[in-house]
Formats: sequence, C-alpha cells, structure tokens
Amino acid sequence: MEKKEKKTLLVAFSTQKGGIGKSALTVLMASYFHYVKGYSVGVIDCDYPQYSIYKMRERDKEIVNKIPYYKEKSFSQYKELGKRNYPVDKAPAPQAIDAAKKMIDEYIGDIPDIIFIDLPGTLNSEGIVRTLASLDYIFSLISADRMVLQSTLEFAGTINDRIISTGKSRLRGLYLLWNMVDAREKSDLYKIYEEGIGELGLSVMKNFLPDTKRYRHEMTESVAPIFRCTLFPVDKRLVKGSRLDLLADEIEELIHIKQ
Ligand SMILES: Nc1ncnc2c1ncn2[C@@H]1O[C@H](COP(=O)(O)OP(=O)(O)OP(=O)(O)O)[C@@H](O)[C@H]1O
Ligand SMILES: [Mg+2]
Repeated sequence: MEKKEKKTLLVAFSTQKGGIGKSALTVLMASYFHYVKGYSVGVIDCDYPQYSIYKMRERDKEIVNKIPYYKEKSFSQYKELGKRNYPVDKAPAPQAIDAAKKMIDEYIGDIPDIIFIDLPGTLNSEGIVRTLASLDYIFSLISADRMVLQSTLEFAGTINDRIISTGKSRLRGLYLLWNMVDAREKSDLYKIYEEGIGELGLSVMKNFLPDTKRYRHEMTESVAPIFRCTLFPVDKRLVKGSRLDLLADEIEELIHIKQ
C-alpha cells in the first residue's frame, strides 16, 4: 500500500473466537499508538453488523460535544499533539483493503503509519481470507480456556496453510497474545500451553494482558479516568496494572515501525 515513499502497515487483532477482546484491543492500541506514541493511525471496523468501534466513536463524539470537561480536554489534546483524532471507518470484511486504501488516500496531513482492522471472528468466506492475506501483521488473542485455545490454534493453522505457506500473502508476522489472564494463574499452566503452541511453530508474545474490570469502563458523561476510548488514550493512572504500555512497546518492536 504505497503513497509517496512511506508504507502503511495493516494490522489486526484477529481470532476465530468471539468475545475474546479483539475490538477492545483494537481501540486501546489504536488510541495508544495515535495519542501516546505519536504515530498516525486509522481504524477500519469490519465487524458487521455490530460495528462496535464505529458506534463507539459516535458515542465518544457525542459525549465530547456535550460535556464541557471533555470538550476542553479534546481541544487541549489537539493543541498539544498538533493533529486530529484518528479516522474510524466501517466496511464489510471482504472490502476492508479497499476501505484502507481509501483511508490512506484521504488521510489528512500525512499518510497513516498503521491502520488497525477489526475483523469478525470467522474465516467462513473467501473474502475474509483474502483480507487476512493482505494484512502485514496479525495478533491472535488467546486465553487459557480449552475452547478458545483450540479455535485459535485452528485459526492460526488455517492462516499458515492457506495464507503464509502459499507464498502469496503480504503477511509478515502472526503472533499469539494471551488476554484475560488471571494473574494468580500465570504460572505452570501457561508454560505447558506455550510449549504445545511452540511445537506447532507459532510464536507467543512476551507480554500478556491481565483480566481486569477496567475493560468495562467506556467513556461516559460523568468525568472519570478514561480507559477504552477512541478520542483519548488510556488514562495514565490506569496504564499501570493494565500492562498496555508494555504491550504497545512489544507490538512497536514486532512490526518494525520505530521512528
Ligand atoms: N483483559 C480483559 N479483562 C477484562 N475484560 C476484558 C479484557 N479484554 C476484553 N475484555 C472484555 O471482554 C468483552 C469482549 O471483548 P470484545 O468485544 O473486545 O471482544 P471481541 O473479540 O471483539 O468480540 P466479538 O467477537 O463479539 O467482536 C468486552 O466486554 C471487553 O471489555
Ligand atoms: Mg468485536
């Protein structure tokens, strides 16, 4: 995906299993890379018919317009960063790449460094497989639950067989990422799982995300530290303990975009 000399990386948190944190992670990382790390980001929400990120952006905007505290915060963020909020577009999964190209062409000021694509939890159409084959990096969420692991490993296996090994894809990396980890449990059990995963030739990220209640916090009209939001990054007070900073650093290394 070229425009001028810079290239936009297409990245997805994708898994075949539903409810494992794909959309939450997409927003958290998009906001972290755009507002904290200073990259130019875009998001394409392909999770038809929920379009949960697209709808979250609409809600976030309404709140910012209505609540003076957030309006002021948004204005000072704009002044401080010297750039606007990242765009969020929606598209059916088979059309995700066209939507990304359009976003790159229309991106204001620069071309985006990363476009995060939130895909539905299914590989049931050729269109979705084609989209996956056109991504640069896939981070596949796993949790220590037999069913989740099994379906994610199948997903990763399918990607390997149908995408990577055909040599026709642009995919440069597929990494598994533990989410919803019960901190008391991050122990031998995970080591055993990871050994099994390693034998399948799959890589697991060093950092994991703990199971914490703050994932339920979206921005509301009452003023409170922000966690998951498309207009602001996670509040500094909530970063500690969420490990999102460590995860973002590791992703930054893995996708080789360090400025
Ligand atoms: N680390 C975590 N700790 C606690 N809750 C989490 C964590 N990660 C995600 N969640 C919560 O799990 C729920 C499902 O997350 P999310 O909607 O992001 O999943 P999804 O994979 O996008 O699901 P779907 O397949 O329906 O699109 C949400 O309520 C989210 O806040
Ligand atoms: Mg989702």
